[in-house]
Parts: sequence; structure tokens; C-alpha cells
Amino acid sequence: MEFRDLKAQYLALQEKIDANIKKVLLDGQFIFGRQVGELEEKLAEYVGVKHCVSCANGTDALLLVLLAWGIRPGDAVFTTDFTFVASASVASVRGATPVLVDIDPETFNICPDALEAAIERTLQEGKLTPKVIIPVDLFGLPADYPRIEEIAKKYNLLILEDGAQGFGGNINEKRVCSFGDAATTSFFPAKPLGCYGDGGAIFTDNDELANTLRSIRAQGRSLKDKYDNRAVGVNSRLDTLQAAILLPKLVAFIEYELEAVNRVAKLYTEQLKDIVQTPIVPDGYYSSWAQYTITMENKEQRDSLQRHLKEQGIPSMVYYPRPLHTQTVFANLGQDSSLFPNSKKAAETVLSLPMHPYLEQNKVENVCEIAKSSL
Ligand SMILES: Cc1ncc(COP(=O)(O)O)c(C=O)c1O
Repeated sequence: MEFRDLKAQYLALQEKIDANIKKVLLDGQFIFGRQVGELEEKLAEYVGVKHCVSCANGTDALLLVLLAWGIRPGDAVFTTDFTFVASASVASVRGATPVLVDIDPETFNICPDALEAAIERTLQEGKLTPKVIIPVDLFGLPADYPRIEEIAKKYNLLILEDGAQGFGGNINEKRVCSFGDAATTSFFPAKPLGCYGDGGAIFTDNDELANTLRSIRAQGRSLKDKYDNRAVGVNSRLDTLQAAILLPKLVAFIEYELEAVNRVAKLYTEQLKDIVQTPIVPDGYYSSWAQYTITMENKEQRDSLQRHLKEQGIPSMVYYPRPLHTQTVFANLGQDSSLFPNSKKAAETVLSLPMHPYLEQNKVENVCEIAKSSL
């Protein structure tokens, strides 16, 4: 059994993907071919924002926005302690300081109360200037934007939504990647919408920001004269081949894959809710199920379930075994470990089960049977 079966998806879409790849090979427009613009338009329309600016990966997407906003040493960038390292390290790459925040124990997303406390603490210390909040839509579930937006307004902070795992989710029909001042996603193969290599995108309603991003992803060149470089930029483009692969994948994602993962999640929850803590999706929220993550009582129980599943040929993953404040790269931040009781507990007790749109009902039931017998 595969944790995320990319081959099953390829086989379902093979004809369209192969034809699109062939078209790119025959056209020879490997950089900024017409498929890149077409994909950007379709993604912006789906998300419901004015602009989509594609780039090389989800990490660059975050970094490009921080670069466009002029984030620099002395700035504080608030993000969750329980996420993939890039959500925080992009602040360090700019020379700014990531300020890590504990999570809500039920949703695993950044806790708005802890966020406000972290902002207050930072202001009182007076060493850093609060600038940006990077909420992460962890495991596919949108963060608590209604509360986060109130906090951002109160303290005059920018919001950069990290939707790398959340693409396809929504809150009351408002889609992931449309929250905040800008949002990003990743097309890493295992993401809800993945390509066959690296890829990423930025979303915003702000015309000026979109223009700046289009320039700095291509060496800071002027959009009118490509040999006039107006700003300090980088080389971070989405390959035409990846855009051509994503086009039919986006159609399948919208037409049935998103519903399929929600069916799988429902099935897991029905079968497992009496024996473990199953994922909580608040009212009005819709998840794209980048991961289906259950919570056990303690580390011993989690590790033993993972071992048991492995013995029966069922892959499972621990996202994430180390909260960011315990990572060597962030040791210099000196953030007191007592600030993160919920992310520490989550790192010891969570387990993500196989999840993808092509997972059949009998396979889900088999995973659940094995989990039940282990517990
Ligand atoms: C929450 C989050 N942010 C950012 C990234 C970075 O995306 P990429 O791997 O495309 O650079 C990832 C990818 O794993 C992620 O899960």
C-alpha cells in the first residue's frame, strides 16, 4: 500500500498528461511557455483572487513575498511551531526573526490567543518590529483566519497565508490561498495539487505586489524591457512542463479528487472515532486532507501503532516529530520551551495514515481493522 499513490493518479490521467507533455516537447517553449500563463489564470480563477504568480517551489513562494515586502533584519515574523521548516526559515533567510507560536491542540493550527500573546511579548521586549504573520493551513485545514485577521488589524501586521498543504480547502466557501494580503502554495508531488517535480505559486488581489513578484521571480527584470533589471531578484520560475502536467491535474482535482479525499476522511473517522482522537474540522471549514492525522494518548501508544501498521505493510508518517523550537537551526532564537505545550504534545502523539483520492474503501477499512486490533 502507498502512503500517497501518485502512480494511481497518473494512470487515471495518463492520456491527458502524456499529450500535454508531448505538446511542450514539440513546442520547445520550456521557460514561460503558454501553459504557465494558462495555469496561472485557471488557478487564480479557482481560488477567487485577481493574481496568481507561479514560481519554482513553495519555499520560494514564501520568500518572494517577504522579499517584495522588504522584510529584513530587526523584523519579527510570527508563525506556528508545528509545521514544515520552510514556514519559519524563510524569515531567517531574509535576516528577520521567526517568532514561533503554539498551536490549537484540536486543529493543530496556530492558536490565535498564543499569537496575540507572542505579539505582545515581542512589543514589550522592544527588540524586534512585528511585521508579518504566516499562518499555515496544516494537513489541509485552513487556519482560523477570522481571528487571525482581527489580530493582524489590531497590530497592523501583514498576513502571508502558507497554503502549501491547504490548497482546495475553504472556510464558508472562501477558498484557501485567498486569505490575508498574499498566500502561497506548493506543487511538491505529494501535496493536494502536486506536479512531477518542484513548483509553487503566490496569490494576491494586490496589483502592485503581483507586478513586483512577476519581476523579482525573473531576476528583477522590468516587465516592459527584459534587459532592464529594476530590482534585486532571483530565478524562480515554474517550468512549462510542470504547468502542462498541472493543467489536467487541476481539472481532476476540482471535478472529483477533492471530494474523493473527503470521502476517505469520512470513512476513516467513522471507523476510528471511538478508539482514537480523529481530526476535527470546525463548522464551516472544509479540508483538502493533505494528511489524515489521528492523535493517540501518548508516544508509546503512537509508536506501537506505527510499528504494528508497518508489520502489516501499512505505511504511516509522523508529521512532525520535532516542533520547530527544538530544531538546531532555531536554537539561537532562545524561545522558552514552556511556551509550546500543545506542539510538544502533538509531536509525540500524532500519526498520519495513508490518504489520497484513489484509496479504495476496502483498503481504508483494512487500515482501520489493523489499527483497531493494535489499540
Ligand atoms: C507548510 C509548508 N510550507 C512550505 C512548504 C515548502 O514547499 P516546497 O517543498 O514546494 O518548497 C511545504 C512543503 O513541504 C509545507 O508543507
